Amino acid sequence: MKALTYHGPHSVKVDNVDDPGLIAPDDIILRVTATAICGSDLHLYRGKIPGTHHGDIFGHEFMGEVVEAGPEVKNVSKGDRVVIPFVIACGDCFFCRLQQYSACESTNSGQGAALNRKSITPPAALFGYSSLYGGVPGGQAEYVRVPKANTGPFKVPDILSDEKVLFLSDILPTAWQAVINAEVKPGSRVAIYGAGPVGLLTAACARLKGAEQIFIVDHNDYRLEFARQRYDAIPINFDKNDDPAAWIIENTPGNRGVDAVIDAVGFEAKGSITETVLSTLKIEGSSGKALRQCIAAVRRGGIVSVPGVYAGFIHGFMFGDAFDKGLTFKMGQTHVHAWLPELLALIEQGHLTPEEIITHHMPLEEAARGYEIFEKRQQECRKVILVPGMNAEKATV
Ligand SMILES: NC(=O)c1ccc[n+]([C@@H]2O[C@H](COP(=O)([O-])OP(=O)(O)OC[C@H]3O[C@@H](n4cnc5c(N)ncnc54)[C@H](O)[C@@H]3O)[C@@H](O)[C@H]2O)c1
Ligand SMILES: [Zn+2]
Ligand SMILES: [Zn+2]
Repeated sequence: MKALTYHGPHSVKVDNVDDPGLIAPDDIILRVTATAICGSDLHLYRGKIPGTHHGDIFGHEFMGEVVEAGPEVKNVSKGDRVVIPFVIACGDCFFCRLQQYSACESTNSGQGAALNRKSITPPAALFGYSSLYGGVPGGQAEYVRVPKANTGPFKVPDILSDEKVLFLSDILPTAWQAVINAEVKPGSRVAIYGAGPVGLLTAACARLKGAEQIFIVDHNDYRLEFARQRYDAIPINFDKNDDPAAWIIENTPGNRGVDAVIDAVGFEAKGSITETVLSTLKIEGSSGKALRQCIAAVRRGGIVSVPGVYAGFIHGFMFGDAFDKGLTFKMGQTHVHAWLPELLALIEQGHLTPEEIITHHMPLEEAARGYEIFEKRQQECRKVILVPGMNAEKATV
C-alpha cells in the first residue's frame, strides 16, 4: 500500500510499504477514506520529536471503512464507517475509567516525553507519533491497523460527509476540551493564542459556549482574518503589535484582563530568538513566548488552558506571576473518546461546522507537497485533507 513516511527533517514521501495485518484479537484494519495533516505532525516533520525514525508512517487524524476485524472485536464490524481517536486507549484501566483516555496506562510501549517520570506509567500510545508514544504506524496511508477497536473507533452516520466528521479524530475534541478547561460560558472574555486549525476551532467552540469577547493572536493575517469574519474574533498580529497581552488588558473592563486564555501554539512558539536558539541547541525544551503572553493576558483568578504541545523545561516560565495572580492551569493531550457523542450531536444539529476551516483537498499521493504547503503557510492554507486514490484533477490546491 501507499503511505506517507519520514526520511529526516523536512523530508517526507509517499512510499510503497507492506499492508498492515491484524496482530491482537481486538484489532481492526481500516481502509482510510480521509486523513488530515495536523500542527502536531509539523513537530515531527521538523525533526523536533525524539524517537522519530526513517520510514515511520505519520498520521493521527483519519477515518474510513472497517475491512477486517479480529475475533474479539464486538463494537464494530466489517463495512462500518468510523472515525478513529488519535489517542489509543484500552477503555478499562484506572485512567480510562476516569475518562482520562490520554493517560491510559496500558497501550504505550514507549516512554512518553516527561523528563522526571520516575516509576509512573507513560501516557497513552498515539497513532503515528514516534517511539515515545508507542511507535504505532499512522493513518496517512491507504490502510491502517487500529488497536483497541472495542474502545476507539466511533461510528458516524452515512449522511454526514467525511469532511464534516473527520476532525472528531483530534482537533475538534481538542478545541472543545480547551474551552471546557477554560470554563468558557455566556459572557466570558477569552484570548486565544494561535490561529491555526486548533485555534480556529477553539474560537468556534468558544462562540458556541456563549463567549462575549474573543481575542485571537497570530502573525498570519489570512488566518486572523478568517477568525474575524467567521467567529467575530478580535485579531491581533504579533508582528505588528509585539505585546498583544498589554493590548488585550487595555481592551477589557477595568484593565483586568480576560477570564481565560487558551494557548493553541505550543513549544514552537515564534517570537523569542533566544529561546529558539536555546531549544535548537537542546539547552531549552520549549519556547515560552506564547505561554508568558497567556499568563500576562489573563485576569487574576483566571484560567490558562493549554492544548498546544510542550516538551521539556522552560526557564522563562513565570511561575511567580501565576502565583501572584492566583491562576489555574489545565493542559494535556485530549481525552478524545470522552467528547465524541456530544460533538457528533452538535455537528448533526448544525451548531458546529468544522469543515469550514479546510482549504486544501489533495490526493494522499501528493502528501509531501501538502506538508510543505501547510508548514510554509502557502496558498493561505488553513487545513489539508488527504484522500487516498483521489483523482488529482479534483484536488483543490
Ligand atoms: N493537546 C492535544 O491533544 C493537541 C491536539 C492537536 C494539536 N495540538 C497542538 O496544538 C498546537 C496547534 O496546532 P495547529 O494544528 O493549530 O498548528 P499550526 O502550526 O497550524 O498553528 C499554530 C499557529 O500558532 C501561530 N503562532 C506561532 N507563534 C505564535 C506566538 N508566539 N503567538 C501566537 N501565535 C503564534 C502560528 O503562526 C500558527 O498559525 C500545536 O502545538 C499542536 O501540536 C495538541
Ligand atoms: Zn492532530
Ligand atoms: Zn486504559
